[in-house]
Amino acid sequence: MTLPWFNMVIFAQHCKRFTVIRTLSTAPKINKFPVDIELLGQKYPTDDWTNLTPKIVSALGKNLHTMQYHPLSHVRQRIVNYFYKSFVNRIGNPIFSVHDNISPIVTVTQNFDSLMIPKDHVSRNKSDCYYVNQDILLRAHTTAHQSELISMGLNNFLVIGDVYRRDEIDATHYPIFHQADAVRLCTSEEVFQNVKNSNDLKLFEHRGHESSEKQGCHSLEAVKIMEHELKTVLIGLVKAIFGKEIKYQWVDQYFPFTHPSWELEVFYNDKWVEVLGCGIMRQEILQKSGASDRIGWAFGLGLERLAMCLYNIPDIRLFWSTDSGFLKQFEVNDPDTPIIYKPVSIYPQCCNDMSFWIPQHTNFTPTDFYDLVREIGGDTVEQITLIDQFVHPKTKKVSHCYRIVYRHMERTLTQKEVNNIHEKIADIATQNLNVVIR
Ligand code: DAH
Repeated sequence: MTLPWFNMVIFAQHCKRFTVIRTLSTAPKINKFPVDIELLGQKYPTDDWTNLTPKIVSALGKNLHTMQYHPLSHVRQRIVNYFYKSFVNRIGNPIFSVHDNISPIVTVTQNFDSLMIPKDHVSRNKSDCYYVNQDILLRAHTTAHQSELISMGLNNFLVIGDVYRRDEIDATHYPIFHQADAVRLCTSEEVFQNVKNSNDLKLFEHRGHESSEKQGCHSLEAVKIMEHELKTVLIGLVKAIFGKEIKYQWVDQYFPFTHPSWELEVFYNDKWVEVLGCGIMRQEILQKSGASDRIGWAFGLGLERLAMCLYNIPDIRLFWSTDSGFLKQFEVNDPDTPIIYKPVSIYPQCCNDMSFWIPQHTNFTPTDFYDLVREIGGDTVEQITLIDQFVHPKTKKVSHCYRIVYRHMERTLTQKEVNNIHEKIADIATQNLNVVIR
C-alpha cells in the first residue's frame, strides 16, 4: 500500500520549519459504535445521528460541579447560598429547590421542542451537539429541564449540571462545561403584592400585541415588575460573587424561550465578559406545563466563565486537571474564601499546521475534525483554528488548513511527542473523515 506524503510545519518556540514523512497507518479507528451504547448504566440504540466520542462518554458522570473542593463546586455553592438567602418563605425557609444531579442524557423534545426552539434552528445541528441517536442527546443547556420541573409543580428552582456542545477549541471553550439555570414563577398576587390598590392590575391582556418590551399576552405592568425583580436578583448575584465594585451592563438579546431577553456582561481584565442570559419566559412554555396562571422569569449562566474570572484561571482545561498542584489551591471549606489561582509554571506552546482536501459530497464540518483532534490529542491540545480555506478553481475541491496549538498544562511537551500526536491525527483523519492530507 502506498501512503500519501504530508507536510507538517512546526512553529514550536523557534518557529522551526521542517517536513515529516508519514510512515505508518496502523492507528485504530475511532467513533465506531456497536448497535447499542451504554451510558451511565443504561443502554441506548445508536443510528446515523450518533456522534459521541469515547472522550465525551468517559466524562459522563464526573460531576465536577459537585466534587468536594472543586472550584466549580465552590461557585455552585455560592449561587445556591445566594438564592437560599434571597428568597425565603414566611417562616424563613428557602423557597428555591436545587437540582444538581439530573442526568445529562435528554430527549430532543426536552432540549429543543419544549423550549420552542424552531425545528430548523442551527443549535440542533449534528455539528453542534452530541447525539446519542436521532431522538436523544447530551443536553446542550440546563434549560432542557425547565418544562418538566414546571410540570411537576415547581415554581422556584435551580438546575445545575454538565452540558455538552461541539464547539471551537481555545482557552475558553471546552466541549463539556457546566451551567446553572433558574426559574421563578409568580401569581398575580405575588407580582403585585407591593403595589397599593392593585385590585384592577392583571398579569394578562387579551388581544395584546408583542412589542420589544413584552409578549402579546402579558400586561406591561406585570412584565416591568418581573423584569425589575429579575435584574435586581442578578445584579445582587454578580455582586455577591465578584464584590460590590463590579462594573456591569445589560445588553438586549434574543432567545426562543424568553421575551424580552437580556444578557448581563461584567467588566473583567479590561474586557466586557458575557456571564448570563435571561428573560421573561414565553407564556406558551408555562401553558404547556400547566402553569398558565403564572408569569415567569428565567436565566442561565456558565459556571466556568464565572470561576475563570473569580479565581483568575487562565485556561478552561484546568477544570479537568487531576493534578494536586491545581486542586490543592481550592481546598477550603468556606466557598466564599478569596482564592487567586497561581499557575504552577508556564510551559511552552508547540504550534503545528495541517492542510487537507475535504471529501466531496459529504457533510464534513470543522467540528468533526475538532472532535477527532481532541480524541487523539486529549488535553495536550490547547487550541485549533481554521486558518485558511481554499477552493481549487478547476476541480472545486475544498482544502482546509488548521493550526493546532499543543501545550500540556503540567509539563513541557517534547517536539517528538508532538510530532507523534500530529501524525496520528493525520492518520486517523484520513481513515475516519476521508480527508486527503496535502
Ligand atoms: N440556555 C441559554 C444558553 O445556554 C441560556 C439561557 C438564557 C437560559 C435565557 C435561560 C434563559 O433560562 O431564560 O445560552
